[in-house]
Amino acid sequence: MLSLEFCEIKDEDVNEVIALWQACGLTRPWNDPYNDIAFARAKPTSTLLVGRDSQHEDGAILASVMVGHDGHRGWVYYLSVSPDHRAEGLGRQTMDAAENWQLSQGVWKMQLLVRGDNHAVLQFYDQLGYQPSSCKLMEKWIDPSKRGD
Ligand SMILES: CC(C)(COP(=O)(O)OP(=O)(O)OC[C@H]1O[C@@H](n2cnc3c(N)ncnc32)[C@H](O)[C@@H]1OP(=O)(O)O)[C@@H](O)C(=O)NCCC(=O)NCCS
Repeated sequence: MLSLEFCEIKDEDVNEVIALWQACGLTRPWNDPYNDIAFARAKPTSTLLVGRDSQHEDGAILASVMVGHDGHRGWVYYLSVSPDHRAEGLGRQTMDAAENWQLSQGVWKMQLLVRGDNHAVLQFYDQLGYQPSSCKLMEKWIDPSKRGD
């Protein structure tokens, strides 16, 4: 089984990560991925982790996840595993890396959002011990010029 080595994204990784997100169907017209990555990297409480085969540390990025916390709860976004390496345990390893990053920041509860049409991933998260929240998510575009769907 492939074992991934995770580190924080570097400048030279950005295009490869965006290509991975696109291959995973995670990009949306209203979310500029370059901006999203730069925004996360610019803050001390967020970053993007990339995973490569630990035997080939300069090899292709096979997985990535954006992690951050808001001073209370930890969040993950853009969880992605290469379509060529699904069902090999890499998603679990990537979420382990995300949880370990959160723990290293002193965060003890992680939350995440799943798009309403992404039914398949719910079983994945269930396998990892995540449960549907009893809380109702509320949202508002406080800068309406950036509004997406
Ligand atoms: C979701 C995703 C990260 C899973 O990655 P993966 O490497 O295939 O997952 P793993 O092999 O680590 O699977 C972990 C467990 O979840 C289960 N699982 C994974 N995908 C599943 C699916 N679609 N349906 C049911 N179970 C699933 C596996 O069987 C495994 O269970 P086990 O450990 O008991 O054997 C990957 O499918 C992906 O990148 N999807 C596209 C992007 C996406 O939707 N991201 C999440 C946005 S919220």
